[in-house]
Amino acid sequence: MMFGADRFVADCRAALAEVDGVSAVREVVDRVAADPGAVGAALGEPSYGGIDCLHHAPDLTVLNVVWTPGMTMAPHDHKMSAALVVYGGREENAFFRRADERIQAIGGRTLQEGDVLLLGPEAIHSVTSPPDRYTGAIHVYLGDFFDRDREVWRADDGEPDADPPPVEEVFARAEEARRATRG
Ligand SMILES: [Fe+2]
Repeated sequence: MMFGADRFVADCRAALAEVDGVSAVREVVDRVAADPGAVGAALGEPSYGGIDCLHHAPDLTVLNVVWTPGMTMAPHDHKMSAALVVYGGREENAFFRRADERIQAIGGRTLQEGDVLLLGPEAIHSVTSPPDRYTGAIHVYLGDFFDRDREVWRADDGEPDADPPPVEEVFARAEEARRATRG
C-alpha cells in the first residue's frame, strides 16, 4: 500500500462529514496502521524531532509528529477528539484524571508501530519517547490544534502549569539538547 499525505487528509476530511465522524476518522487511521512502513517510506524515516503540519483547518488538524529520543511532553489535554498512529519507534503514553485542580495517574499504554490510540476531548496524557531512536506518529485532531485553550500539568507533582512552553518549543528544546550532548 502506498501512503500519500494529500490522500490521507482528503480521506479524513471525507470521514469528518459522516454522521459519526470520530468513528469514520478512526477507520481511516486504522487503514494506515495496517501498513505503518508505508508512512515512513513516504514521509521519510523519523530523524529530526518536531511537528510537521500536513493539514490545518478549524475542524481538522493532521500532524506528522517526530519525537526526539528520550523526550517527554508533560501531561496535557486537547479539548477535542484525536486519533493517532505510530509508524516508527514507540510512544509511551501515561493517562491521568482530574482530581480537583491537580491530576492523578490512572495508567498508561505503549504504542508500537501500527498501534492506534483514540483520545476523547476530556483525555489527559503525557508522552515519552524511547531513548534509543526517533519515533514518528501521525496525529489527527478533530479541531484546531494550534488555536485552543489546552491545559498542561506538571509531571512531578500533578499541579497545573499556568505558563507552559509552546508545543513547538518543547520539541525544539529536546532536539537542541540531543544535538548538544552528541557534539
Ligand atoms: Fe497530546
